[in-house]
Amino acid sequence: MSKITQIWSREILDSRAVPTIETAIKLDTGHVAVASIPTGASTGKFEALELRDNDPKRFNGKGVLKAISNVHEKIAPAIIGYDPINQFEIDQKMITLDGTPNKDNLGANAILSVSLCVAKVASVAVGQSLYKWINQLAQAYKAVTSDPMTHIPTPVFNMINGGLHGAGNLDFQEFQVIPRTSKPYHLALRSGAEVYNAIRNSLIRRGAIHSTGDEGGYAPNLFTNADALEINVEAINESGYKIGQDFFLGLDVAANTIHKNGGYSIRDRSNALNTSSLIEFYQSINEEYRLTYLEDPFYEEDWDGWKQITSKLGDNMMIVGDDLLVTNPEKVKKAISEKACNAILVKPNQIGTVTETLEVIKLAREALWKVIVSHRSGETNDWFIADFAVGVRSDYVKFGAPARGERVAKYNRLLSIEAELATK
Ligand code: PGA
Ligand code: ZN
Repeated sequence: MSKITQIWSREILDSRAVPTIETAIKLDTGHVAVASIPTGASTGKFEALELRDNDPKRFNGKGVLKAISNVHEKIAPAIIGYDPINQFEIDQKMITLDGTPNKDNLGANAILSVSLCVAKVASVAVGQSLYKWINQLAQAYKAVTSDPMTHIPTPVFNMINGGLHGAGNLDFQEFQVIPRTSKPYHLALRSGAEVYNAIRNSLIRRGAIHSTGDEGGYAPNLFTNADALEINVEAINESGYKIGQDFFLGLDVAANTIHKNGGYSIRDRSNALNTSSLIEFYQSINEEYRLTYLEDPFYEEDWDGWKQITSKLGDNMMIVGDDLLVTNPEKVKKAISEKACNAILVKPNQIGTVTETLEVIKLAREALWKVIVSHRSGETNDWFIADFAVGVRSDYVKFGAPARGERVAKYNRLLSIEAELATK
């Protein structure tokens, strides 16, 4: 039995030099935990509200002082005195206090920073690793079975960055390389790092190296989206691995950004595409590259496109809803009943509490969907989602390229969880 005695938040920077919130909680036992939260760039229209100050004199309006004052003035008085093991009650208290479906009053950023920190401080108070504590919460919520946590989720590496995260000449946001799921995690990470470095060499040879994108993948100068897929294939081969055996390919199209004037524009085709011609395009690249993972192939309101692609390609491919679902239980229910996808990207900050994130995972599991726990493009070094992914027994994690501090903080944390689980 312990009690929350103090909560304080402050403005820190994320990996894009944009402010975000760090929150600390202290218990009467003296235990302290700190959590910080990420920010998206290619955000879905239906995500919970990220409260920004809109004061042009500070950080171009992106300050989070209002959200921080909401933590101090409104949230803290409501939850001080609670035992942090009561995650569901505390989250519900904040949801009620906010009183809006989108967390418009307090801000999902303010609420989530407290929600994550409550989970962390509870794990410290009960003397358990965070992933084990998350697993207990997930079991209590019936979001997972009581099967042991043996599998470290397979990483989806974002090797080449385009769209809003890149240099401006690739339409698709992420060109991914995914190790075979049966590969032990440390070998998956090693092989991913080898391929990452081989991509660099390949881009240097072509004179195409430009910079790295927001998630640590390369942001090269290339002509088409298919060129980027080709470079990933080449790098896999050059590293001594086999495509279709050691590695598979994936894409996050983030199609909100290619949806213009009622059609879809991509540099691989001179004319704008409609839903059915975009499906044909996906079918053609699938024939050539055998994709196993396709995220946000249509924009967030093109339900017809989503249904069609899931029925045409969903038997052999994960059709992953990110902007479509925004980690929102109502959207997930709709997508399940309409068979609009078969996998979900889970981002706690799209919804704003640990409890609601567990709710989404529970629904996805009931529908037999694959679960991918994901970072955001603007991150801190907090590795909460690594523990969260293991605790909810997600199938995959998407933490960006195996490079840059805020990305490897999560990948490296999975290494230590793998080692801890192996000593059992
Ligand atoms: P975001 O991108 O964090 O900028 O939204 C990540 C993604 O689309 O998966
Ligand atoms: Zn996405």
